Amino acid sequence: MRYNLLMNYEESSQKIREQLAALSQTKAEDWHLCLKARFGMAIVFEAIRDKLGAGEVITTPYTCITSINPILVSGLTPVYHDIDKKILSTGKPDDKLSKGKTRAIVMQHTLGMIGNKENLRKYADKHRILLIEDSAHCISRFARDKNGEILADISIHSFGVEKVLTGTKFGGAIWINPLLRQKNPELHELITNKFAKLKQPDFHMAFRVRTYRLNNAVIQRLHGRLRRGFRNFEIKAGLLEPPIYPFEQDGHQDEARTTNKYINERILNQLKILKTNYIRRETNVDLYHTKLKSKHFSKITKLKEPLLAYPIEFKDSAKANEAYDLLSSQGFFIRRWYSPLLYPGPNKLKIYRYNPANTPIAEDICNRILCLPTDLTAIETNKIIKLLTDQKSLVEKAVEK
Ligand SMILES: Cc1ncc(COP(=O)(O)O)c(C=O)c1O
Repeated sequence: MRYNLLMNYEESSQKIREQLAALSQTKAEDWHLCLKARFGMAIVFEAIRDKLGAGEVITTPYTCITSINPILVSGLTPVYHDIDKKILSTGKPDDKLSKGKTRAIVMQHTLGMIGNKENLRKYADKHRILLIEDSAHCISRFARDKNGEILADISIHSFGVEKVLTGTKFGGAIWINPLLRQKNPELHELITNKFAKLKQPDFHMAFRVRTYRLNNAVIQRLHGRLRRGFRNFEIKAGLLEPPIYPFEQDGHQDEARTTNKYINERILNQLKILKTNYIRRETNVDLYHTKLKSKHFSKITKLKEPLLAYPIEFKDSAKANEAYDLLSSQGFFIRRWYSPLLYPGPNKLKIYRYNPANTPIAEDICNRILCLPTDLTAIETNKIIKLLTDQKSLVEKAVEK
């Protein structure tokens, strides 16, 4: 059954909440919808700022700039923890980072790598701060303890561009741990009230959302400078809603909005195939785990999870670039997340309070990582594996000749 004119906006929103709850063994009433995950994050951080006062949020630079802007626009300050190479995210948090005014720590599951993150819950408890989970790359999946209890106080999920469900393009969902009602009832109430009051996209934004795919298809058919010029023109003319607006690289973001009926219908149609999507990703992760081998790179993770993409670490960035060109020339879409850090990079580091010297591991590794697609057929995945296994450097090839 396709979800279309059968439901009104409220009914379709409720259906999404119920489906997310069923997928994650949670309750529908604890889910809240927004147009983009970054809007939901801003609501959460604004409420934290309102109830707990100004202060810091510990996060990672190995992320998209859209996950830091919500901290900035709320009047909170990001503090960056260096990454653990095995999860490309905050691993063992440094006690020194949590000062008197730290309000929260972000637990980001980069590319959907969750694993065991109980130490982050312990850290949050020890320092009496909130644990905010960023599940943007693994919709409906959560970090849990040994008993299956969710670790986070608040969890962020995304239906946006380049996320798990490729047919949605817009939509975010925020889960609030019902235990927060006892821990901090005022904060719980403020966040839920803010979500209840969210407006739907105005006429112009709704138009951009509806025409996004068509617009993108047209832009993709253009070449080089013409493509860039036309895209910039469309953004300036208010015709295109890009994944990241230029002003978002200056620490700003639009006023928060919720979804509309059109987006809800797309989400519902895609949620139906989420399980199949995850099975395919898991199968491909398994193929990469078992068959991918090369002297030029090493694997980052051994987790058997349905990753958004499969990260590999090259010895040097030149070799990574070569592999990127090779795979792209064969029509494969390879992500370079997150290079540059705070992707696609801030216009001014100062706005982001980011000092590269404090996060040397992330700075070093970001240009050497390639993220291989996991939403392909087994034949396509095997082709990538073969291309990478056979990859020889240009120097080696010249010597052979
Ligand atoms: C880790 C992470 N968190 C949050 C977001 C924001 O998601 P959305 O595009 O739905 O606002 C992104 C976007 O790419 C992301 O990569």
